[in-house]
Amino acid sequence: MQEFKECTFENTNLDSLKKWDIQELNLTLFNREQVSSDLVDVIKATCLIESRADLYSSYLLSVFSSKNEWHKLIHIWNLEERQHGQALQKWSQLVDPDFNFEELYKKYIETVQYHSETGVSVRGSIANELIARCVIEALASAYYAAIRDRTSEPLLRDICDRLSKDEARHYGMFYKFLKEVQKTEKINIFNKLLILAKRVFELEDDQIIYASFCISTHLKQQNYNKSREGNTYISKMYPLYERKHIYYILNLLLPILELPKHGRSHHLLSFLFYYLIKIRIFLSRLSLMNITGNKIAHTESNN
Ligand SMILES: [Fe+2]
Ligand SMILES: [Fe+2]
Repeated sequence: MQEFKECTFENTNLDSLKKWDIQELNLTLFNREQVSSDLVDVIKATCLIESRADLYSSYLLSVFSSKNEWHKLIHIWNLEERQHGQALQKWSQLVDPDFNFEELYKKYIETVQYHSETGVSVRGSIANELIARCVIEALASAYYAAIRDRTSEPLLRDICDRLSKDEARHYGMFYKFLKEVQKTEKINIFNKLLILAKRVFELEDDQIIYASFCISTHLKQQNYNKSREGNTYISKMYPLYERKHIYYILNLLLPILELPKHGRSHHLLSFLFYYLIKIRIFLSRLSLMNITGNKIAHTESNN
C-alpha cells in the first residue's frame, strides 16, 4: 500500500476539513454489468496521475513559500487530490482485483519526474503558475463531469460527480489567489493566452501519456512509443466530451482572460473547440490505423 505523509497544519488535523471523506463512498453501488470496458484503462491511468498529489503539493508549497496565508488551503487541497487517487484506486480494484496499483505507481513515478521544489515556478511567476493551475482544475472538473455523464455504472458516476465538484472548487481557490496576485502583478491577455495554450498542449506530454502506457502495457513487454500511446489515449478519452463539457470549460476559463461568458463568442468558441477535438480524434485514429496497417504489411512481407 502506498504510504502518504501525515498532513497536519499548526497542529490541526486537516482531514476533517475535506469536503467529503472516502468512507462515505457506498461500494455496494458497484455494478459490474454496467462497467464500460473503454473506461477502465482511462480511470486506472487517471488514478496514477491523481496519486501524485503529494508531489504536486510539495512543489506548489515551494512556489508559494512567500504566501503563508495560502498554505492551509493548499494542504487541504492536497488531501482532497490524494483522495481522488484513492477513490479511483478503489473503483479500479473492484473492476479488476488484479490491478496492482503499487507496482504500476512505482514504475510511473520512477520514470516521469515531477517539477522539483526549487521555490521557483516552472511557469516563470506565481501568477503564471496560478493560471496553469486554474486550467488544470477546470479541465479536470470537465473531465470527471464527462465520465459521470457517459457511464451508467452507479459507483463511478458517484465518484466522478464528487471529483468534478472538488475540481471546480479547487479552480475557485486558485482563481481567488490569482485575483489577489493580479492586484499588484498585471498580466496582459496575450501572456495569459500563451500560458493557457501551453498548459493545454502539455496535456499530451509524458505526465499523462506515460501513465496510460503503464496501464495499457501492464504484463506486456512493449517499448514506450509516445506518439502511439498518445493516439491510443486520445482515441479513448476525447470522445467522452460533449459540447456542453467544452462550454463548461470555457465558462471557467473565460474569466481568467477577462472575456464575457454566455454570449455569442462563448457559444462560438465551444463549437470551434468541440470540432477541433473531433479532428484530433480523427487524426489519432488515422495514425493508429496506419501503424496497424504498416504492421500487417510488414508481417506479410516477412512471411
Ligand atoms: Fe483531482
Ligand atoms: Fe483538483
